[in-house]
Amino acid sequence: MKALVFGAAGMLGADLVAVWSRSEKVVPCTRDDCDIGDGERVRGLLRAEKPDIVLLLAAATDVDRCQNDHDYAFGTNSVGAEIVAQACRRAGCPLVYISSIAVFSGEKDSPYNEFDIPAPANVYGLSKYHGEEAVRTFCPDHWIVRTGWLFGGGARDVKFVAKLLRKTAVNSEIRVVRDCVGSPTYTVDFARGLLQLVSRFHNGTYHLVNSGMPASRYELGRETLKIAGYSTDMILPCLSSEIDSAAPRPRMEAALSAKLGGPRNRLLLPDWKDSLAGYVRGTLSELVRC
Ligand SMILES: NC(=O)c1ccc[n+]([C@@H]2O[C@H](COP(=O)([O-])OP(=O)(O)OC[C@H]3O[C@@H](n4cnc5c(N)ncnc54)[C@H](OP(=O)(O)O)[C@@H]3O)[C@@H](O)[C@H]2O)c1
Repeated sequence: MKALVFGAAGMLGADLVAVWSRSEKVVPCTRDDCDIGDGERVRGLLRAEKPDIVLLLAAATDVDRCQNDHDYAFGTNSVGAEIVAQACRRAGCPLVYISSIAVFSGEKDSPYNEFDIPAPANVYGLSKYHGEEAVRTFCPDHWIVRTGWLFGGGARDVKFVAKLLRKTAVNSEIRVVRDCVGSPTYTVDFARGLLQLVSRFHNGTYHLVNSGMPASRYELGRETLKIAGYSTDMILPCLSSEIDSAAPRPRMEAALSAKLGGPRNRLLLPDWKDSLAGYVRGTLSELVRC
């Protein structure tokens, strides 16, 4: 299978390209190669490469910036997705759109499944939801795959786990939110699972996250420091209302799949704590150095 990957230089993209390249032919595409807002370039690339599948990972992922800069948010996450979806349909090529559990309000008391109804709590979530809708409308041959709080990427990791480890070198106390929960998910597990998903499951919308109990950032942070061999005393719980951020964060961002758990065709990712342990132990020096 020849896969064209938009967003190949991002945190998920780098690991996904590495994982898929072991068995598939992968054409990695960065923003420098092709901005997904540029319809001519996107269509030209599909004509030239003739992929069997397109993976759309490229996204505006700075949640606080999205809240105040709507061109940034919707330009890529919604309009860019529409451009890629139309180009895929025209080329007769299936499309995988990576989306987020942030499309839900966060008001539910238990993890979201694929049959819950989206109602985004912030602009990032809304822009991803519009991206999903564009894909449903313009490219019927699609998989929309929502995931949770990603960690991975080693030196490219600029998200929570890496930031926390880097902060421990300079801070004696780190306050971390305890009243919002999510499903921590390792990029490498996600990439492996995604390959199985598109090989074994029909088109549609799916949730793909690591298994294990939902966790708050505080719990994820404590687990990270414990694995790294650092004291967990420096990490202090706080409420999301105490953190000054532009975008409101949903209280519940944990997910499960009601569609990938069938007895005969089960797709289950490892427990996030096991994957976190492997990731942090394997890349600690890289993570702390960056
Ligand atoms: N990280 C998470 O916790 C999480 C959770 C759920 C879902 N997701 C979804 O997973 C996907 C990958 O996320 P990630 O964490 O790997 O994000 P990331 O590290 O921010 O990577 C996104 C990549 O997309 C590129 N990009 C942005 N706008 C583009 C455009 N208009 N044209 C072409 N490329 C563009 C970025 O390039 P620049 O660096 O030049 O901007 C970057 O390389 C995204 O769709 C995201 O919504 C992420």
